[in-house]
Amino acid sequence: MLVAPLFVRPGSGVREPVASMPGVERLSADLAAEEAVRLAGLGVGGVILFGLPETKDALGSGASDDDGIVQDAFRRIRALELPLATIADTCLCEYTDHGHCGPLAHDGSVDNDAALERLAEVAVSQARAGADIVAPSAMMDGQVAAIRAALDDEGFGQTAILAYASKHASAFYGPFREAADSAPAFGDRRGYQMDPANGREALREMELDVAEGADMLLVKPALPALDLLAAARARFDVPIAAYQVSGEFAMIAAAAGRGWLDGRRAMTEAVTAIVRAGAGIVITYAAADLATWLREEQ
Ligand code: PBG
Repeated sequence: MLVAPLFVRPGSGVREPVASMPGVERLSADLAAEEAVRLAGLGVGGVILFGLPETKDALGSGASDDDGIVQDAFRRIRALELPLATIADTCLCEYTDHGHCGPLAHDGSVDNDAALERLAEVAVSQARAGADIVAPSAMMDGQVAAIRAALDDEGFGQTAILAYASKHASAFYGPFREAADSAPAFGDRRGYQMDPANGREALREMELDVAEGADMLLVKPALPALDLLAAARARFDVPIAAYQVSGEFAMIAAAAGRGWLDGRRAMTEAVTAIVRAGAGIVITYAAADLATWLREEQ
């Protein structure tokens, strides 16, 4: 059930801690592959890769570069034939110089339809490099249908889509944006991510994504959206995933670091609640710890 996020950066033999997420590191592709071996050995079921490219531009060109950083890491991990699902975060914000999830229109807003074309190219490139599953997270309207069509056209009918369907414009992504250097240069993501106050919109987004061909649905963040996880589980007959995001991890890690919480118990309780609410797959920065603790308890 557990999926570990990996931040892949250029170079080789490079390991760089993320200040706001104790224990989380940015890794070069060679070390990311080593980490995948360790995770598979612990019983973690999958890895989701985020790329930190050397250069960024207005279109986020690096995201669909067959020789890009994430593509390199996928090829290395696939070559190891590990019992581990390889998942790609399909977005542009880590690759655009403005930090938004799609190319910009003249008025500075994100151009939804231009983004669809780019996201389809990104997904195809990730599938070609060895991603079993692509996970579109840009929250552009129609992204699942556009990606499904492009994958099918290019002969990747077997590549599954894990749709970030219910994704709130959340304060809890803060540490991730430090890790991925992807904070928007201006404005915010409220134009395309959802208002946390609107639960019905979340369910409508999920319905649309299923209709467009999503194989699995993702709810994000997790603990602040347990109601939506439970509703999604009751309503849709596809696997439901939850993303316990960077801020959810950082809160527990920071309090545990000060001795204010028992980190192991708090993390276990939070992830148990996420599973109880309906998640069959949990993306979490604590995946390795949780897998280790589960083994100790067996
Ligand atoms: C890319 C993306 C983000 C996260 C996952 N994919 C950042 C964002 O939307 O701002 C956040 C994950 C986390 O906080 O751990 N769009």
